Amino acid sequence: MKFDKEKITMLTAYDYTTAKMVDAGGVDSILIGDSAANVMAGFETTLPITLDQMIYHTQCVVRGVERALIVADLPFGTYQSNSEKALESAVRMMKEGGAHAVKIEGGVEIEDSIRKIVNAGIPVMGHLGLTPQSIYKFGTYKVRAKEDAEAEKLLSDAKLLEELGCFALVLEKIPAELAKKVSESISIPTIGIGAGADCDGQVLVYHDMVGMNQGFSPKFLRRYLDLYTEITGAVSQYVKDVKTADFPNQTESY
Ligand code: KIV
Repeated sequence: MKFDKEKITMLTAYDYTTAKMVDAGGVDSILIGDSAANVMAGFETTLPITLDQMIYHTQCVVRGVERALIVADLPFGTYQSNSEKALESAVRMMKEGGAHAVKIEGGVEIEDSIRKIVNAGIPVMGHLGLTPQSIYKFGTYKVRAKEDAEAEKLLSDAKLLEELGCFALVLEKIPAELAKKVSESISIPTIGIGAGADCDGQVLVYHDMVGMNQGFSPKFLRRYLDLYTEITGAVSQYVKDVKTADFPNQTESY
């Protein structure tokens, strides 16, 4: 698709029903992101989610998908310490979760883990720029790699990830110009989130793009629906209908 200049689409999903809709909508790839920790479990960061929980979400998504490529995040602490552990985590995600590929965050620091997983025949998607599992190192969710030194490291990490055999990489919250340079410098596709229009594809968190997540409004987000308002409105109407004995009516009864 990169070669043909066809943009690649990716959205997150964490459950069967949503995955079915996202797949039916024609998305190329579905990500079981560790953002499940935020939007499904209500944690402030992605750090607390466990491998067992990510495997559960992945199993649910897999049952709903007929055509899209399914990529699952390996959560914090399951691949950074050593490459053996990284491989074990990736194998569990593939065997028990049923994912087609795993995504892991970082560059040269996790080189051994990427090599080990790729060598075992498991497709790996990289993730550079704002890597939320390192939030306590960064201290903020602001745009990364604005300074030359960080931008140079990011470019060199992107080239390394390609060399190591990653099949694609996410670029999160970096200047559009840098994302363009990275995308032109490597032959594997870049999937951007807050990284401008020149990435080879785009990814968004499902709950954000359908407007379920009212408190989250970064500049890069385009909301396609206002489901928060729709759903709270529907719930209020239901409450009213039950309280006034309007629901159920005769045709809704046996
Ligand atoms: O966890 C996630 O949803 C992600 C995307 C934001 C790329 O990693």
